[in-house]
This record gives sequence, structure tokens and C-alpha cells, in this order.
Amino acid sequence: MANDVIIALDFPTKAETLAFLDRFPDGEKPFVKIGMELYYAEGPAVIREMKARGHKIFLDLKLHDIPNTVRRAMAVLSRLDVDMVNLHAAGASEMMRAALEGLTRPDGSRPLLIAVTQLTSTDAAALKNELLIDTPMAETVLSYARNAARCGLDGVVCSPLEAALVKERCGESFLTVTPGIRFAGGDAGDQKRIMTPERAGKSGCDYIVVGRPITQAPDPVEAYRRAVREFLG
Ligand code: C5P
Repeated sequence: MANDVIIALDFPTKAETLAFLDRFPDGEKPFVKIGMELYYAEGPAVIREMKARGHKIFLDLKLHDIPNTVRRAMAVLSRLDVDMVNLHAAGASEMMRAALEGLTRPDGSRPLLIAVTQLTSTDAAALKNELLIDTPMAETVLSYARNAARCGLDGVVCSPLEAALVKERCGESFLTVTPGIRFAGGDAGDQKRIMTPERAGKSGCDYIVVGRPITQAPDPVEAYRRAVREFLG
């Protein structure tokens, strides 16, 4: 069910990120996604600053390592008080369960844990010839999603076009976090399989991740409000 719009803060520095967020009025605190570029450049300080400003944070670092390393890294991220983190389902079940353990705080609370199935940059040829996976892409994605659900993860990152099928296979409460969102009549850029916020809201997406249609808009605050209006209906 349509829950919230997450703005992808794909900026290289904290200064540019804060300048962007400063355009929003005091009482309006969008859910934001921080990725590798900004986190590796600025470190945990940028997370603390955004939490202090009242934003919910999806920390998009896509962890993938041996279970013990992921458990310990997730414990560190959990202490940063982020709201959503992710990992690669390709790390397999033991790693996913270790991640959940590491994320769980002493009081039992934890950030949402979302799995990446196959990267959208991996095409059918790479899947077969380089990863040596003979199963068709769609089945591979759904199978990884089911593994994540069985391990107790909260959801997957997927295309808005896959959201309904993920729900069908993994259960209605299994979350779908979907990039590839564009306004009607907007520029698709490098995204190929796209959907409008309104369609995404009607297609089983729980969270939409919107970057350039908001960050590059002439009026980003209005673009954000439009995305929320259309997505939540
Ligand atoms: O600017 P745009 O709306 O395309 O940004 C979408 C965001 O979602 C970017 O941060 C991008 O890295 C991320 N993403 C994606 N496709 C995926 C996974 C993540 O576009 N499959």
C-alpha cells in the first residue's frame, strides 16, 4: 500500500545536500535516501545531521560480505538510527539472517531491512554468461525475493512493474521499494522501465524512490508535493 515518497539525494557533498533540503519549509521533512557517493564522501556525520533535522533515512549501501562482517556492520548502521537499510540477497540466507541480528537494537527495534535482488544493470546475457545462472531473470528475481522474505527481511527493491508480482509471491505485507518513477510527460533519463507516481500507488508499491524528477526540477518542493499527492492519491 502506498506509504511514502523517498527522495534520492544523489549529491556529491553534504553542502549541496543541505542546500537542497534547505529549500523545504521547517515543518516539511521528506524521507530521504543516502547512497554510497554521499556516505563515502561525508561519513556518519551526514546521517547524524539529517536525523537531527528530523528526516527519516534510507541508507542505500547494499551490503554483501560474509555473515559475521555484515552482522557487525549492520550493528553500526543501526546505532546511526537510520530507518531503512539494504543488502544484496545474493549474499544468501545466512548473511541475511546475520544482518537482521546485527540490526536489532537492545530494545528490539530495528531499521527496515530491504534486499536488492538482481541489479537492474545486470541483463539476461550477463546473468547467463557471467553469473552462470540459467534461470530466467524474472524467476531469479522472484526466487531471491522469496529467500529474503523467508529470512524475515521486510521487503525488496524492485521495478514498479514487478511490485504486484512480488506481493503475490511473497505476501501482501512484504514491502516493495521502487525506483524508476517519472512524472507523466517527464524526461525518462537513463531509466528504462518507468511508471508515474499515480500508477505506482495503484500497483502495489509501498515506497517510491524519486531522484532527478524532484532534485532537478525547477521547483523541487512543488515536485516533491506533486509526487506525494499523486502517489498517495
Ligand atoms: O534520478 P532517479 O529517479 O532515476 O533516481 C533513482 C534512484 O534509485 C537513484 O538513487 C538510483 O541509484 C536508485 N536505483 C535505481 N534503480 C535500481 C536501484 C536503485 O534507480 N534498480
